[in-house]
Amino acid sequence: MSAINTVAPPKQATEKKSVYIETFGCQMNKSDSEHMLGLLDDIGYSQIDDKNDADLMILNTCAIRENAEDKVFSYLGAWKKIKDRRPGTMIAVGGCVAQDEGTSLQRRVPYVDIVFGTHNLHRLPDLVLKARATKESVCEVFQELPEDLPEIPVIRQSAISAWVSIIYGCDYNCTYCIVPFVRGREKSREMDVIAKEIEGLGLGGYKEVTLLGQNVTAYGHDLDPKVHLGHLIERIGKIDQIKRIRFLTGHPRDLNPEIIDAVKNTESACEYFHLPIQSGDNRTLRRMARGYTVDFYKRCIDQIRTKMPNAAISTDIIVGFPGETEQEFMNSINLIEELQFDAANTAAYSPRPHTPAADWEGQLSQEEKFERLRFMNSVVTDVAHKINKRYIGRREQILVEGRSDRHPERFMGRTGTNKIVNFEGQESMIGQLVDVEITTANPWALRGKLPE
Ligand code: 5AD
Ligand code: SF4
Repeated sequence: MSAINTVAPPKQATEKKSVYIETFGCQMNKSDSEHMLGLLDDIGYSQIDDKNDADLMILNTCAIRENAEDKVFSYLGAWKKIKDRRPGTMIAVGGCVAQDEGTSLQRRVPYVDIVFGTHNLHRLPDLVLKARATKESVCEVFQELPEDLPEIPVIRQSAISAWVSIIYGCDYNCTYCIVPFVRGREKSREMDVIAKEIEGLGLGGYKEVTLLGQNVTAYGHDLDPKVHLGHLIERIGKIDQIKRIRFLTGHPRDLNPEIIDAVKNTESACEYFHLPIQSGDNRTLRRMARGYTVDFYKRCIDQIRTKMPNAAISTDIIVGFPGETEQEFMNSINLIEELQFDAANTAAYSPRPHTPAADWEGQLSQEEKFERLRFMNSVVTDVAHKINKRYIGRREQILVEGRSDRHPERFMGRTGTNKIVNFEGQESMIGQLVDVEITTANPWALRGKLPE
């Protein structure tokens, strides 16, 4: 392990360089990429959209499932061709695959110039300068985050909505999950530091923040004095310019009633909870080491809906966990229908290195897993469609994020409950809270119009 409190490298802004970044995986990775861009800006690298012209290409990787990992190697294969055409171009690999594989990744793809992990983002400028100077590949991966979390510069991709990490890592050990191995143990940022960052965002014109972490519901248990996510939400709720507070992602066991109350009582906190259940079957939940039963989870949802009847709830579910029977799978299906999730990220179980379940007997075939996944997706879609149709005729306040990707003549915003709404509006509405009347609904989005 290298020294951690390295002084920032001298600015070498005289030589302008370009960087292209490709990000796989979750919001945490997207947020990390924004920090990488901030760090690299300090040494003269500006972001460009065409990798063919880039002096530095960065792949920020995800290890959560095998197919995400496979994608890394196919991308790197294609990037090698760019590097062959344009000698001098550098390739850096960061994120969870780099954290996990370190030097073995460096050996496997020797044309990669820099391999860096999830715990040493702040070292990226040094590593780039070193690889540039020595023309040799560098690999640096820390086992843990630095004791004193460095404040890292950031270049955000949106001017309206900002991701703000509040806690890193995860202390659970779900038997399928690689995250604790690549993101380490829970470590919360100080509340004052977070609040100061968000006050700055408010002054800079941001309207929405999403508090990020692998387990935001555990926020603050490791701080002195101890605080919880509810305290942080209340504190951010006092920042006038921030009109919306969201948080992602949590664990049902840590969602205490105070957090739910804070969301209810804080005007700017969105009535939207993403609460991964993973399975609707008790035996599977036990074997996943989730630490709760289906009934416990139902009580969580009940508490939310009793306090906030209009709250939206989404979840993550895995199908085809080793040994999952047809009946146990159907228990998940029935639970989706019973609990009426607004949305669900579904995934076929994927065996991951270091995780106990990867070595268990009773692994399902790809065909079985994908058949279950297809069926589950159709149920999730039907439920979501039914819920979305209830929005028709309602007036909803949305935060307008920009033009719609697929229909650039339309604008796109979100309700507090995280429903995407497309509508015909005006450029001046971008970044504003606007009232729209919902006219139609599909499972993934709503259409609306400006009230007459
Ligand atoms: N296989 C499939 N899905 C997984 N997830 C985590 N690990 C695995 C795995 N090995 C899913 C969980 C988690 C989400 C981020 O990814 O549902 O909540
Ligand atoms: Fe993985 Fe479980 Fe931690 Fe979520 S709570 S990151 S699924 S170990």
